[in-house]
Amino acid sequence: PWDRYARLREDDPVHRHAEPGGPGFWAVTRHADIQHVSRHPEVFSSHAGGIMVPDATEEQLSRNRLMMLFQDPPEHTSTRSVVNRGFTPRMIGKLEDHIREICHDLVGTALARGSVDFVADIAAPLPLYVICELIGAPSEDREKIFTWSNALIGADDPEFATGDLTPIFELLSYASALGARRRAEPRDDIVSKLVAPGEDGTSMDDLALGVFVMLLAVAGNETTRNAASGGLQAFFDHPEQWRRLLEDRSLLRTLPDEVVRWVSPVITMRRTTLADTELGGQKIPAGEKVVMYYPSGNRDAAVFPDADVFDIGRDPNPHIGFGGGGPHFCLGAHLARMEVRVLFEVLAERAPDIAPAGPTRRLRSNFVNSLKEMPVRMGG
Ligand code: HEM
Repeated sequence: PWDRYARLREDDPVHRHAEPGGPGFWAVTRHADIQHVSRHPEVFSSHAGGIMVPDATEEQLSRNRLMMLFQDPPEHTSTRSVVNRGFTPRMIGKLEDHIREICHDLVGTALARGSVDFVADIAAPLPLYVICELIGAPSEDREKIFTWSNALIGADDPEFATGDLTPIFELLSYASALGARRRAEPRDDIVSKLVAPGEDGTSMDDLALGVFVMLLAVAGNETTRNAASGGLQAFFDHPEQWRRLLEDRSLLRTLPDEVVRWVSPVITMRRTTLADTELGGQKIPAGEKVVMYYPSGNRDAAVFPDADVFDIGRDPNPHIGFGGGGPHFCLGAHLARMEVRVLFEVLAERAPDIAPAGPTRRLRSNFVNSLKEMPVRMGG
């Protein structure tokens, strides 16, 4: 798609795409315009039409609107301010040693086997285990949470879809019960912070906590998984960057953002206009769908020198892989960077000879840039 993105950025950066018989939408491909859309929720609403392409059913929409990803200010502002209490740099920083342990476990097991599927054996379990750690779930519950989350994530993939809502309800009631336990016996963890009354007296009730944990399971898993597998693929495609990292570990500081820029794990987010507006020289009426193409913005030569070069030392790196700023900017960005950094730190240390061992399989999706399978050889 890279040529097509480049042509659109050049000739038609806010492109009206009309499907026969369908309502059509506006494709936004420049970095600056994506930032503009992200930062003006009063015009470009997440609530009105949902944020996913293709359209959700009304039933899915009303379920989704409980999640902050689908809310607009001021509702979003109050949900997010409660959540921000838990997602402080201190709370996230506390997870680093756990993340390193998880990476050592996963990479160690893979090394012992020699040949593994990097997606199933490392990239997928890592973010799930981290979310279990984040919400303070005991490790014996990991498998359960893993199964529920996979069912949730796979709900839109024909290969995995079951149409069964049971895992959603099981995850919801699990999270609610966890909230009740932490309210009774608080610990120094995020869930305890969320269910305890804040300075303004508000706190999350059991349902809100359940919905939030569900959002974490959706927003924090497949994205980070794809950053990890897509990042490794980028190193396979650019072996000189892997050698650079092996020689100079200080590059671990800038590596995560370049991986996220290069891979753009989330491809699109959508907004709906609430008023007539103008963007990139186009007049857009109220009630139209506007789709942001993050991978395109992340290769915009107006912002990135040598935009088509994978450079793990890139600095500054104002990519929009976590969103174009504004109220919905990825809540987990700091955590995701840490996961990617620690994973590549451990791989560089223990599996410097990691190499591809067969064809990859890609998920068909215009929402996430996802590898389903990635055979690798290591330690042999
Ligand atoms: C929102 C990307 C990891 C939690 C978002 C958005 C993007 C994104 C593009 C939407 C931004 C917008 O609409 O302006 C990514 C990528 C990740 C990642 C590429 C990994 C490399 C995570 C993790 C978590 C997380 C690890 C949590 C544990 C969230 C939440 C939101 C969000 C809760 C919604 C925020 C809101 O609506 O206010 N993310 N994300 N993400 N992300 Fe992430």
